[in-house]
Amino acid sequence: MLNFTYENPTQIVFGRGTVAQVGRLIPRDRTILMTYGGGSIKRNGVYDQVMKALKGRPVLEFGGIEPNPSYETLMKALPRARREGVDFLLSVGGGSVLDGTKFIAAAIDYEGEEPWDILAKGAPVKSAVPLGCVLTLPATGSEMNRNAVISRRSTKEKLVFTSRHTLPKFAVLDPTTTFSLPPKQTANGIVDAFVHVLEQYLTYDVNAPLQDRQAEAILRTLVEEGPKVMKKPKDYDARANVMWCATQALNGLLSCGVPGDWATHQIGHELTAFYGVDHAESLAIAYPAVMRHQRKEKAKKLRQYGERVWGIREGSRDERIEAAIEKTEEFFRSLGVKTRLKDYGIAKGLERIGARFQARGASLGERGNIGPREVGEILTLCRK
Ligand code: NZQ
Ligand code: ZN
Repeated sequence: MLNFTYENPTQIVFGRGTVAQVGRLIPRDRTILMTYGGGSIKRNGVYDQVMKALKGRPVLEFGGIEPNPSYETLMKALPRARREGVDFLLSVGGGSVLDGTKFIAAAIDYEGEEPWDILAKGAPVKSAVPLGCVLTLPATGSEMNRNAVISRRSTKEKLVFTSRHTLPKFAVLDPTTTFSLPPKQTANGIVDAFVHVLEQYLTYDVNAPLQDRQAEAILRTLVEEGPKVMKKPKDYDARANVMWCATQALNGLLSCGVPGDWATHQIGHELTAFYGVDHAESLAIAYPAVMRHQRKEKAKKLRQYGERVWGIREGSRDERIEAAIEKTEEFFRSLGVKTRLKDYGIAKGLERIGARFQARGASLGERGNIGPREVGEILTLCRK
């Protein structure tokens, strides 16, 4: 096992009716900025529940944060938040609203000229306004991690920053808030969580059987519970199980002491930045191709994954690996998430992605063996 440190102080408040606890979770003396997206929280009643919980408290609102939250939109929140002395942010919505809120929290305190430098140049986040969330879409794990992914529309960039200061103080996870999710977003969330686990599990063996089995437990639970929520969107237990899986998939626990891959996420972010596919769609395209490209390097874990998650015990070593990859693709497609570039009409301009990694001097994957040329080969596999 590799060395690691682990700390995760986010308070999780999980279950039916928990939105009512938001008032108690935010210190009484705070001026709150409540952030949200395009209006789903007004249609499904979550907005009203939050407002009721915060009755009599100073609450400002900032809505309109879009999926793949944009720098351009988020910057609009700053003047008012600073002027009104906002000292707590409450994100109500999915991962995009939460990531956008993390950025606003860091940008309010940022002393440099251009907050984009936090993303583009890794400018340090020395402090941030504290934040909490009511999460309505299980997918990203953002509710219990330090990451935020922000897009800049004008330059077609999508970049990540990570800071301990933007870890949510609390996350309210009420599975009933997810009943209203459209099937596409439900499926996206399952795929995203599934790939988060794989990025931390399907690497090379470092003799960490606990982490392996924690990962396999989440994968198998998603395989069992995912189809249930697709079939019955108001199945509370299935929604609860998917929600807790998604949080556990990217709260740092699975990464303890093991190598991380993340090539698929990096390639996927470029696919979203250039072509606008949803985050999970980009992963469903890129992950099978990464598995195929890296089948030798990942052979041992691919066979373990095939056997323990999909019950594949027959066939030659190579056949078992191919079967595991096919099972993964079938699972994504069974949820309605397509797995090839052509399914989205993407054919041209892919060389821009390799060029970007070239410019960044990037070498991706758990072995750092995926450079710009290999990214090109992986994108070719995404076409087949
Ligand atoms: O904007 P509203 O009206 O709220 O509608 C949203 C949005 O259109 C809707 N929605 C959310 N909850 C709903 C609902 N509709 C009905 N009922 C509900 N309960 O769903 C749509 C998508 O929402 P979004 O927040 O964009 O989805 P998701 O949670 O999948 O977040 C995706 C973003 O997170 C980033 C992605 O790159 C992408 O930008 N990621 C963040 C990570 C992190 N912070 O650790 C890791 C991930 O790998 C990922 O990169
Ligand atoms: Zn993801």
